[in-house]
Amino acid sequence: MSDFTPARKTVFSGIQPSGNLHLGNYLGAIQQWVRMQEDRNSFISIVDLHAITVTQDPKELATRVRELAAVLLAAGIDPEKTTLFVQSHVRAHAEGSWLLSCVTPLGWLERMTQYKDKSAKQQSVMTGLLTYPVLQAADILLYDAHEVPVGQDQKQHIELTRDIAQRFNHMYGETFVVPEPVIRKDGARIMGLDDPRSKMSKSEAGSGHALLLTDEEVVLRRTIKRATTDSGREITFSEDAERAGVNNLLTIYQLLTGKDRSGVEADFKDARGYGDLKTTVADLVVEKLAPIRAACTRYLDDPAELDRILQKGADRARAVAEPKLIQVKERMGLAVPAALL
Ligand code: TYM
Repeated sequence: MSDFTPARKTVFSGIQPSGNLHLGNYLGAIQQWVRMQEDRNSFISIVDLHAITVTQDPKELATRVRELAAVLLAAGIDPEKTTLFVQSHVRAHAEGSWLLSCVTPLGWLERMTQYKDKSAKQQSVMTGLLTYPVLQAADILLYDAHEVPVGQDQKQHIELTRDIAQRFNHMYGETFVVPEPVIRKDGARIMGLDDPRSKMSKSEAGSGHALLLTDEEVVLRRTIKRATTDSGREITFSEDAERAGVNNLLTIYQLLTGKDRSGVEADFKDARGYGDLKTTVADLVVEKLAPIRAACTRYLDDPAELDRILQKGADRARAVAEPKLIQVKERMGLAVPAALL
């Protein structure tokens, strides 16, 4: 059940409401969250405060938060097992981020590759883009999370979180659990179908790149049919950069079937080239995503129920994050007056 059980491990992860969810998010992160919620204290946050590190249309942002909640629930996040909440509904995150920023050397943040990539694309870079990973550290550390299931691109941020926790513990005494990233061996980096050298991402404009969890069947089939492959015929896993497109399709197939690599290769033993591979992968993707799309529509048709789930999630998150924040403040010498408790 959702109630906090101290004997269990705690997992925390987050996802930005900055566009539609794609198969990379699903296979790299959400599938793990759905599995882990069975035997962990599980917290999943829709990180709207992270999303505003780049300019967002205010009206659209509110809609996207709801849509993301609907897709997560449709994809198997069970609000009875996972505390699903919106980050900005729990004030401790922003406050905790400030406290942690005061123990985080600037050089640590300037080294983050995601900051370097994103800031290079902006004309004017906001401070929040630089301090983004400190907020992420606050997210995780406020819940004493042991495990943080993420895709490969978040590894550096989780390592930074560990460094911040260790530094704080060293300066002020044992306060935080030092969390471990949980990154699956296969599927931690699903690639774009149009360009298998770049990871599938929400911000990548244009069709043909990502498979969205809410895409219609025709769009899914078209995107897979046009996926970039190579001039060969062999349907096997490969680390060879030339064959990254086929490898990516096989990885998607592997994770959606739950088979191991040799089982996957055996399935394609008699296939007659990449056309067959694409058709089989497309059939599977359509079959797996159809129920998610249908469930998502049901949630979106009932906004009151969505709001109720998110409100309950925020209440439960606050009950864990706020006492932790008070402990952190006390450690730092910021005594909390009784009137504020
Ligand atoms: P975000 O919203 O970019 O992505 C959500 C999750 O999806 C994973 N992911 C992928 N996995 C495999 N292949 C891909 N192509 C792919 N693209 C995305 C991401 O690794 C991530 O796990 N900063 C985070 C959100 C965050 C967070 C946190 C995560 C905020 N606070 C605390 C963990 C803990 C982000 O922008 O994820």
